[in-house]
Amino acid sequence: MKYVENAWYVAGWSSEFTDQPLKVTLLETELVMYRLTDGSVCALRDLCPHKLLPLSMGRVEGDTIQCGYHGTVFNATGHCVRVPGQEIIPKRQCVDTYPVFEQHNIVWVWMGDAALADTDTVFDLPQFNDSNWQAHQGDALHIESNYLNVAENLVDPAHVSFVHPTTLGNAQSEDVPVHVNTDSEQITAWRWIRDAPPVGFFKQLGGFKGHVDRWHYYYLHMPSTAVIDFGSADASLAIAEADREQGMRIFALHFLTPVNATHTIDRWMHIRNRAIDDASIGDRMNELFRIAFDEDKVILEAIQQQETRIAESDNPGPVPLRLAIDKGPNEYRKRIEHLLHG
Ligand code: FES
Ligand SMILES: [Fe+2]
Repeated sequence: MKYVENAWYVAGWSSEFTDQPLKVTLLETELVMYRLTDGSVCALRDLCPHKLLPLSMGRVEGDTIQCGYHGTVFNATGHCVRVPGQEIIPKRQCVDTYPVFEQHNIVWVWMGDAALADTDTVFDLPQFNDSNWQAHQGDALHIESNYLNVAENLVDPAHVSFVHPTTLGNAQSEDVPVHVNTDSEQITAWRWIRDAPPVGFFKQLGGFKGHVDRWHYYYLHMPSTAVIDFGSADASLAIAEADREQGMRIFALHFLTPVNATHTIDRWMHIRNRAIDDASIGDRMNELFRIAFDEDKVILEAIQQQETRIAESDNPGPVPLRLAIDKGPNEYRKRIEHLLHG
């Protein structure tokens, strides 16, 4: 399938990269990535141009990687610097390389035209550098579903009451309308549920006794990064929408890596403004996130199976019905189409 290539994608958490070759697949393209002696990470096409053996089966030596078949050596810029047994190095004996950028313990790779790779456009959030907030990594969740299905789920507050009844949603939010803003670079869908019992997440970790005001703001950045700003505050405070800092506020971040047409990796983490010195709270939050995101995974994989079955069938199958509650997802699909086809 076609992907948006001129974009930064997450290749992995920083901890995944060492001085050993790591095979990483993004947009159906296989890369080999490793750390150089200065600590930075490089990305090369995982393909020796000689007999097409994956370079990830070779070994890293200093800043170079040696093919595991005939010992040809490439440097981090993709140039061949040695062909054992011959003096002349053919020009075509080189491999493609990709720009890499590391920030906040996340490694990004640019899959398109390298001349357009601007590190100022890598996703960032001011709270990463704010001592009043604490970042806490979660998992790399593998989902057997197309990344478009996964991304639209992350700008879709309407599913939360039904898919996540014990953690992120409850019955009080079922019929609360969702607002959607499509005026800026990111798509925003949000709603407030005022003066209602706290959902499981905040009951367990926020210590709320009575009713709370709860918010969910979903920000979807093109092509595949989602930020969910959610939280709760005592209903008696009746906080204004702009004063969310006064409550327990959490940013759940999802970095989606499209692997291929039916496989996505969702690396998720959070940044919170409470219990910032208590890592055990971060771990307990992750346990609840794990429950919730596994619930999404079940739904998204089942949807992919239907799509695959219909695509493989000789009979034209049903197509998804677009409802008014799908404004965010619809806008997302439209923007992806625009990025792909102009
Ligand atoms: S296949 Fe890589 S050197 Fe021969
Ligand atoms: Fe969900």
